[in-house]
Amino acid sequence: MQKYQDVLAEILIQEDDLQKRIRELGAQISADYQDGDLLLICILRGGVPFMVDLSRHITVPHMMDFMAVSSYGVGRRESSGSARVSLDLQMDIRGKNVLLVEDIVDSGHTIASVLTMLGTRQPKTLKVCTLLDKPERREAHVPIDYLGFTIPNKFVFGYGLDLDEYYRNLPFVGVVDLDKYKPSE
Ligand code: IMP
Ligand code: MG
Repeated sequence: MQKYQDVLAEILIQEDDLQKRIRELGAQISADYQDGDLLLICILRGGVPFMVDLSRHITVPHMMDFMAVSSYGVGRRESSGSARVSLDLQMDIRGKNVLLVEDIVDSGHTIASVLTMLGTRQPKTLKVCTLLDKPERREAHVPIDYLGFTIPNKFVFGYGLDLDEYYRNLPFVGVVDLDKYKPSE
């Protein structure tokens, strides 16, 4: 795999700006969930860095669980109509205040499918927190309750978001230069 410096067009969101916004979201969520029973659900794998950092700024007691969803895809970087759960939750969400934590809402199909599925399990509340929103690409309606940043229609990586599974570790969000990127076979 190439070094990230060789495929980076520009840094879109710097580490400091990410962390500042995540602190604000943590404070807002802490204020909104005073009554407890908060369960953060991380959508693997992209939501991991965001949920870990966000959780450290949430001052009310809360639990965490994880799920993985794969979309029936067309292209590798697109998600299509529906999503399938490839790793389900360990916890029973009935009666809990569930907050989904996602890296990005793009077409919206992933979160829309997850909301439909989890809605049938009778949570007390079910809300969405996403670090990034790419509204220009939306195909499915998704109510976003907590949002980090709205971004333009560009393919981004870093801070959980991958380019063919690499670069999730980077502490910033960068735009890929697709002319420079050479996918390995
Ligand atoms: P959606 O179902 O189209 O909303 O897409 C959701 C998933 O596609 C996200 O959780 C990401 O894993 C992936 N995705 C969408 N846009 C990007 C991007 O710009 N960079 C990396 N992954 C992306
Ligand atoms: Mg994701």
